[in-house]
Amino acid sequence: MDIKKPAYVPGHGLLKDRSVLITAAAGAGIGFAAAKRAVEEGCRAIVISDIHEGRLESSVQKLKDETGLEQVWGKTCNVANEEQVQALVNFAEDKLGGVDVLINNAGLGTTKALIDMEDDEWNKVIDVTLNGTMRMTRYMMKIMKTRGEGVIVNNASVLGWRAQKEQAHYAAAKAGVMALTRCAALEAADFGVRINAVSPSLAVHPMLKKSAPAELLAELEGREAYGRGAEVWEVANVMMFLASDYSSYLTGETISCSSQHA
Ligand SMILES: NC(=O)c1ccc[n+]([C@@H]2O[C@H](COP(=O)([O-])OP(=O)(O)OC[C@H]3O[C@@H](n4cnc5c(N)ncnc54)[C@H](O)[C@@H]3O)[C@@H](O)[C@H]2O)c1
Repeated sequence: MDIKKPAYVPGHGLLKDRSVLITAAAGAGIGFAAAKRAVEEGCRAIVISDIHEGRLESSVQKLKDETGLEQVWGKTCNVANEEQVQALVNFAEDKLGGVDVLINNAGLGTTKALIDMEDDEWNKVIDVTLNGTMRMTRYMMKIMKTRGEGVIVNNASVLGWRAQKEQAHYAAAKAGVMALTRCAALEAADFGVRINAVSPSLAVHPMLKKSAPAELLAELEGREAYGRGAEVWEVANVMMFLASDYSSYLTGETISCSSQHA
């Protein structure tokens, strides 16, 4: 395998006949990559969601065009809004005839030194990244409990474990996602639902290149043993493992998707 330019891995039927719901899937990053990967892994139907209505519409069409699956629906949802979260889950339950796999991808970051941080900025990052994951998990768990099955995959970050300047709010939110994953998984184990998280270090995509300074991205890539960030589909692959029966003895775990430890 060429570690600099890995070949796209074909699907292996890991999600055969499952139904999938993914939040924040209309960007250029991990969310859309996970949606595409889920279809390639054999999922029978999928609902993708995002706060951005226009991009969501085109992402639904793009997913249909690129995979040939017709059973694709889009529903706008701001995960910071409880009513919209409940409406999204109800919509997905209805369209999919029950959600087998929920992928909580939504997360928001900014770059700000703590001494300059206003409450509003801190709260917004926590509200989308941590509280949004909690809201989706809480409502979905209630429904999965009635069926006695289901899988939830959260998107954390290595910053939930490590320090980085100007990232206290985002790192705190992602550490919270990891703790939420552990505690919710313990409760959900009682009724047959698994909850795990992936923790990417860096997955470079066009929207990130636009928003993050080039020097910072180069520095972060330099920390990786592979000398590059992950392809977004490489993170999606780990999500598919966590969503599939291959991880049947895993719950409450956060799996790193990174080459920083190598
Ligand atoms: N890309 C990375 O290097 C990296 C590294 C570690 C963790 N992550 C995490 O991965 C997840 C995906 O990030 P990504 O960079 O791959 O981009 P992405 O394309 O997967 O997600 C961005 C999308 O999120 C949507 N969004 C923003 N706020 C929202 C809200 N309140 N409700 C619903 N949707 C919302 C945006 O409209 C955008 O389409 C995030 O949770 C992020 O924190 C990313």
